[in-house]
Amino acid sequence: MAKTESPARRITVLRARRIEELEQVSGLQGQIWGATEVAAPSSLLKAISEAGGVVLLAREGSRPVGFAFGFLGTDPQGRLYHRSHAAGVLPELRDAGVGRSLKLAQRHWARAQGLERMVWTFDPAQLRNAHFNLHRLGAVARRHHPDYYGRRTDDLNQGRPTDRLVVEWFLDPVPAGALRALRRRGGLAIPVPSGLLGTGPPPLADLLRLRRRLRRALAEGMAVVDYDRERRAYVAAELPPGFPPPAE
Ligand SMILES: CC(C)(COP(=O)(O)OP(=O)(O)OC[C@H]1O[C@@H](n2cnc3c(N)ncnc32)[C@H](O)[C@@H]1OP(=O)(O)O)[C@@H](O)C(=O)NCCC(=O)NCCS
Repeated sequence: MAKTESPARRITVLRARRIEELEQVSGLQGQIWGATEVAAPSSLLKAISEAGGVVLLAREGSRPVGFAFGFLGTDPQGRLYHRSHAAGVLPELRDAGVGRSLKLAQRHWARAQGLERMVWTFDPAQLRNAHFNLHRLGAVARRHHPDYYGRRTDDLNQGRPTDRLVVEWFLDPVPAGALRALRRRGGLAIPVPSGLLGTGPPPLADLLRLRRRLRRALAEGMAVVDYDRERRAYVAAELPPGFPPPAE
């Protein structure tokens, strides 16, 4: 299929502010996570979108297919950043660039506000997200939280610890360029345990093994700078001196 005919071409991303649009975002969350209790209600999304945050809705024609939203955060030095909270695309529309379009629109919004970084979390056992966040977008992780959200019952988190890596996406060319150079040089490979590579439920022992491996590298002062899809390994390296301190 020629590139111009790809499904992503029929996708529009809009800033959701009207309550009907915000309800669609809330509904998508319920659909994607398979649980309405994890969905932010439209009233909260409304407040976020009016108070320095942004709620984005991706549509194919008039059908809602994806969303992303975030609000303002402050780092320990008092600098503002965009704290993205959630992004999702309906399963049948994945791998068609919709997630990337949403993230780029969110980035555009953050840049327009004069912000220099975006921050969010992801489950390091979700390798699609690892590739998307670290390799595709070029974010970097310096913090790992075991069981960040406690136990959850939605489809994506049920029966497993909610470990999260905090990723920071630098929007300014200097830190972003330094990260690109690090990625080109490579670094310490942190293999993903084999039980996490398939589509079945991940064995707890392998989740804990990945947790230990990532936390060891971070405790040694390294940052997770990439995910290597061919080697099925995270890549850790030391950040250059003077790199901005972590936001969270
Ligand atoms: C994360 C998410 C939003 C990405 O949306 P998307 O529209 O599929 O994103 P894109 O198509 O732009 O990019 C997906 C990338 O992952 C890659 N990918 C897919 N499956 C993969 C796997 N098992 N391992 C590694 N990479 C994988 C795709 O090839 C693509 O990368 P490429 O463009 O370099 O080939 C979507 O997967 C999703 O909704 N996941 C469930 C909810 C979630 O986990 N949200 C994030 C935390 S809030």
